[in-house]
Amino acid sequence: MIFRQLFDRESSTYSYLLAERQGGEALLIDPVLENTDTYVRLVHELDLRLVLAVDTHIHADHVTALGALRARTDCATAMGEMTRSECVSVRFREGEKLRADNLQLEILYTPGHTDDSYSFLLPDRVFTGDTLLIRGTGRTDFQNGDAEEQYESLFDRLLRLPEQTLVFPAHDYNGMTVSTIGEEKRYNPRLQVADKQAYIDLMNGLTLDDPRLMDVAVPANRSCGLKPAA
Ligand SMILES: [Fe+2]
Repeated sequence: MIFRQLFDRESSTYSYLLAERQGGEALLIDPVLENTDTYVRLVHELDLRLVLAVDTHIHADHVTALGALRARTDCATAMGEMTRSECVSVRFREGEKLRADNLQLEILYTPGHTDDSYSFLLPDRVFTGDTLLIRGTGRTDFQNGDAEEQYESLFDRLLRLPEQTLVFPAHDYNGMTVSTIGEEKRYNPRLQVADKQAYIDLMNGLTLDDPRLMDVAVPANRSCGLKPAA
């Protein structure tokens, strides 16, 4: 497998390029608009053909490169069936697969950070978007976020994966690049709660500023990062 973790310094976003083999199909998870040239160059350098660009959810802190990548490479653009995006070419749902050649990522619906949050699972790793972060979890106070749903996505879905499963989130603000399910179970402070109500209270008690780019990013991302039609 070809696997590249790419970092956007401005928003501390991780994007992931995956392919089964050199010369084959590639897919890109959570690409950032400003880095489009980097992705297109890397895909070319690795002799890949980008077939799919996908967002785990509508991001509030950066503008997606889905539309720009579709324009540059003719790739499909995908988000989950719950998305309010008006421009994606594919809407996937729980239990379906994202594919690049024989590479198959299973789609898990993991709402809570937003109601359109999904995770993508390979046998040895999971891409958790903003549902499960390294030593953190995504905020649940906007975009139809819901702490109770997030608790269920975490405790009833993601934390039931094998402990050695690698965790690749959509962001990290502390320079951590990867974790495991077992490590997060033990050391993630948000997960050390007695029960669902304790988690809800913890999340609802957070007072967080809105992301700097929220008012720009959310409407832009509903149109795949391209300007909405006037
Ligand atoms: Fe997010």
